[in-house]
Amino acid sequence: MIDSGLLDGDGRPVTLRAVDDDNWRAVADVAPRDDQRTWVAALAARYLLLSDRSEVWTSLAVYAGPDVVGHVMWGVDDDGSRWLGGMVIDASQQGRGVGRAAVRTLTDWLRRQDGGHPVRLSYHPDNQAAARLYTSLGFRPTGAHEDDELVVELADPR
Ligand SMILES: CC(C)(COP(=O)(O)OP(=O)(O)OC[C@H]1O[C@@H](n2cnc3c(N)ncnc32)[C@H](O)[C@@H]1OP(=O)(O)O)[C@@H](O)C(=O)NCCC(=O)NCCS
Repeated sequence: MIDSGLLDGDGRPVTLRAVDDDNWRAVADVAPRDDQRTWVAALAARYLLLSDRSEVWTSLAVYAGPDVVGHVMWGVDDDGSRWLGGMVIDASQQGRGVGRAAVRTLTDWLRRQDGGHPVRLSYHPDNQAAARLYTSLGFRPTGAHEDDELVVELADPR
């Protein structure tokens, strides 16, 4: 379990846990709002399959208290940079501070890993919720693009 001691707006502890035999169905069922499907997969099941098929990505379940409420995954690029991807909070749980706590928990953990590697992610510039969230957490554009997404990197110190 990855736990930075952060709470959501309702006081629920937000933690990240391995996907296992008990929680994988709940993680697979995590779904964004319909209008957010422009930017992310319709179900977190897609990201679970990607993690399963790739040597790069590792999926994690996002918990609020005892409940699975989201999915996020992390990976290591050839240059050692740490990447965050597949960030989805279930539509029913958005706007309660879970996404912010989950991203902070994962980035804190990635930054504690040896080597001082940069932490990066990408998002579509029209995705305003993502843009506001990541900018407020200290991510800044690197100037690079991945397909039609902006690549951003966590500024140091945050
Ligand atoms: C982006 C996402 C992960 C945020 O998760 P969340 O739990 O709803 O976010 P939080 O409640 O922690 O809010 C964190 C910040 O996100 C931004 N945000 C969240 N919802 C927003 C909205 N509807 N409009 C604008 N900004 C929004 C705000 O900056 C907010 O901070 P504030 O409350 O201090 O203003 C969630 O909206 C989501 O799953 N979206 C669909 C998938 C997606 O776009 N993932 C990112 C792909 S890179």
